[in-house]
Amino acid sequence: MKILVTGGAGFIGSNFVYLLLEERPEWKIICVDALTYAANIHTLNDAFKSPNFVFYKEDIRNREGISAIFEKERPDVVVNFAAESHVDRSIENPAIFLETNIIGTAVLMDACRKYGIQRFHQVGTDEVYGDLPLDRPDLFFHEDTPIHTSSPYSTSKASADLLVQAYHRTYGLPVTISRCSNNYGPYQFPEKLIPLMINNASQNKPLPVYGEGLNVRDWLYVKDHCYGILAVLEKGRVGEVYNLGGHNEKANIEIVKIILSELGKPESLITFVTDRKGHDQRYAIDPGKAMAELGWAPTTMFKDGIKLTIQWYREHMDWMAECTSGGYMKYYEEMYGNR
Ligand code: NAD
Ligand code: TYD
Repeated sequence: MKILVTGGAGFIGSNFVYLLLEERPEWKIICVDALTYAANIHTLNDAFKSPNFVFYKEDIRNREGISAIFEKERPDVVVNFAAESHVDRSIENPAIFLETNIIGTAVLMDACRKYGIQRFHQVGTDEVYGDLPLDRPDLFFHEDTPIHTSSPYSTSKASADLLVQAYHRTYGLPVTISRCSNNYGPYQFPEKLIPLMINNASQNKPLPVYGEGLNVRDWLYVKDHCYGILAVLEKGRVGEVYNLGGHNEKANIEIVKIILSELGKPESLITFVTDRKGHDQRYAIDPGKAMAELGWAPTTMFKDGIKLTIQWYREHMDWMAECTSGGYMKYYEEMYGNR
């Protein structure tokens, strides 16, 4: 099996690469990543040691470049993780989200049509369903929940999903889509809630909580997500959408307090700042379809996963330092300076 993984130098993509090396060691992995600000090539240091792993620095928007990789490697399966992934950045600059997340997905699927493929899998998000009210804990996102997006990020991801479904219907491309809730774990770029708070708390810097910190996210340990994607590839039905989540709903403020407590830091570091524009209130996945059809289920409880995650960052402060060098401080100043 030859599997082409885009965005493999980012958070979830790299965890997926490592899962494949562990669980499907005979597969050849072709990793394609443009190495944007969100990537860290050192994340893949151990993958480079495997003879079954090759890496191409390429942009999924580049038709010629992507075509050349398909021509050479002839992948059997493509899993598309590559994306602009941060909601706050999409609010500041939507254009690149439309280009990478929509056009990039189309470029990849056009290459799949040209060269033939057994499966194109799109890594999607539960954010395409919009949000749920905080006072209705009985409501969950199902696969047939209407698409109703809030941010330029979620809109770009929803557009990509629609395009994937259109390529299936129109050209018969064998596609699947997974829509996952918020991930946490090793190698997440510290612009996202959990690694940002760990990084700031470790340095005794203020922890910027948006609004009152009451927004709820449904957290899934990244390795569980990766197992879910593998299950969709191997057991999922072509043309279908699968929601992946683990019923681990937490308000942001709870997460921040857990991090402070684990790191032995005072709650006085918490700073409530101006809310995100259009801030989604609550995300909550019903993973029943994936569980019933694929036999998939998350195995890491939040209380264990968050400890593992904090421990990982404590042991990899050099990795964090690499991520926060370069443009990070400028980004941080622009995003949080006047909040
Ligand atoms: P990330 O930002 O950590 O990584 C994205 C990777 O894609 C980076 O390595 C980056 O260099 C690469 N990339 C960006 N633009 C590219 C381009 N034009 N060409 C080639 N490579 C490019 O993102 P992530 O958190 O790992 O998310 C991966 C996927 O999972 C995304 O599609 C995201 O929408 C989806 N997702 C993420 C979450 C989450 O909680 N992080 C939840 C559900 C779904
Ligand atoms: P984030 O990690 O950006 O993921 P998403 O917006 O895709 O769910 O944010 C998770 C939650 O944490 C979200 O409700 C916004 C909030 N948040 C903060 O309160 N402060 C921060 O500095 C960040 C980055 C996020």
